[in-house]
Amino acid sequence: MIQKVKGTMDITDAIETYQRIEKTIQTVSRLFHYREIRTPHFELSELFHRSVGSDSDIVSKETYDFKDRGGRDNTLRPEGTAGVVRAYIENKLYAQPAIPQKYYYYGSMFRYERPQKGRFREFRQFGVEVFGSHLPAIDAEVIAYAVTLLKALKLKDVKVHLNSLGDEDSKRAYKSVLKKHFEPHIDTLCHDCRRRYTDNPLRILDCKVDRNHSAFEHLPHAIDYLVDADKTHFETLLNTLDSMNIAYVVDHQLVRGLDYYTHTVFEIKVSESLLGSQNTICGGGRYNRLVRDLGGPDTPAVGFGFGIDRLVIALDAAELTAKPSSIHAYFIIMGAKARVRAMQLMQQCRLMGLMCDADYGDRSMKAQFKQSVFHDARFVVIIGDNEVDQDIVQIKDQQQNKEETVPSSALAHTLIDHLTQNQYSCEDCEKGDQS
Ligand code: HAM
Repeated sequence: MIQKVKGTMDITDAIETYQRIEKTIQTVSRLFHYREIRTPHFELSELFHRSVGSDSDIVSKETYDFKDRGGRDNTLRPEGTAGVVRAYIENKLYAQPAIPQKYYYYGSMFRYERPQKGRFREFRQFGVEVFGSHLPAIDAEVIAYAVTLLKALKLKDVKVHLNSLGDEDSKRAYKSVLKKHFEPHIDTLCHDCRRRYTDNPLRILDCKVDRNHSAFEHLPHAIDYLVDADKTHFETLLNTLDSMNIAYVVDHQLVRGLDYYTHTVFEIKVSESLLGSQNTICGGGRYNRLVRDLGGPDTPAVGFGFGIDRLVIALDAAELTAKPSSIHAYFIIMGAKARVRAMQLMQQCRLMGLMCDADYGDRSMKAQFKQSVFHDARFVVIIGDNEVDQDIVQIKDQQQNKEETVPSSALAHTLIDHLTQNQYSCEDCEKGDQS
């Protein structure tokens, strides 16, 4: 038997939770006024080398690269930002009148990482990218958006970690201080860190091998090397978050594993009791140089990526997962003539917005009733040859424990009348979209 590829998954039982998250993403995106953008699942490899960075673990160790039949180097996208920036430049979206331009995306990303709880080789990311504003207010909006999504999903026990790397001058100053800091330890650092020391000392801070090395004690803080304008940006962001009642911690160790960041970087973590060690569910920040570096006009930008599969695991551990959705009516069918009538009536009901299903297996009445319970149907509609001859149906309201017989032509309206009689909580209305 052929099995799925290591690090991938079939989503079966958790599908309702994924759908609930997707629905919430759409609602929150409307509130914040972001539009969806869809970009390809693979791009020319060079795009990721020039954006995420050739020194980053993601590009140097984790990409799925392949040559197409024309000999071009392609890469399955390991993240969404690079593709969205490419699309922004290629489609000249910067020429559109709306400023800033606010996009969101959702889809699979691919990284050749060691699979474990919360870490997959194909995983789903929801992300946002905003182009065209320098102001710290938009950094605050993007963070507020991520926090609002978690609030809407009722996930508590989350923490926003924030830091600032500043722009080019500040980053340069910090890199040189880091180099001095690590210089006495260089011979005892791991092979990768020795290379990072020369190529990009910031990347040493991502090292998973040397994490407990004494060189990682008393690290210099990036915010102490910010030039004045960058310091003001960060302070304004913190003030804005305070005014929005969004809690955060300033995390001096946070640099993020992708090269394109400038100024603000942030991550959202949930408690390890929910997700284990892979407990970062969201990461993002500002990347003011990337649009220019990829050939576009000088455009400031900021965004984040959410690990949706991690979010599902966290919601499950917090017992906030969605239940399989119930249906409005389950049709119990006895006989061939009744089946044709049931198909006709189900079609009418569905066109009027009622969720219906039936037994398609010629099972006994008892077995069909069992199915109606399994599907959590509010109504059972019973049709046998007798009902067909008299042009009627029997309806059983499982919630109110009432039975009635109505003309077939009145079925859909009768069900809708009962459903909208305000005996339902909002949650029930939502299930049936009858609100
Ligand atoms: P990232 O930190 O590499 O950032 O990924 C964002 C989130 O994707 C992580 O916090 C994590 O929840 C999830 N994630 C990453 N790798 C995996 C994996 N192997 N399995 C499951 N989940 C994973 C980015 O990708 C940036 N593009 C975010 C961004 C957007 N920055 C600015 N704009």
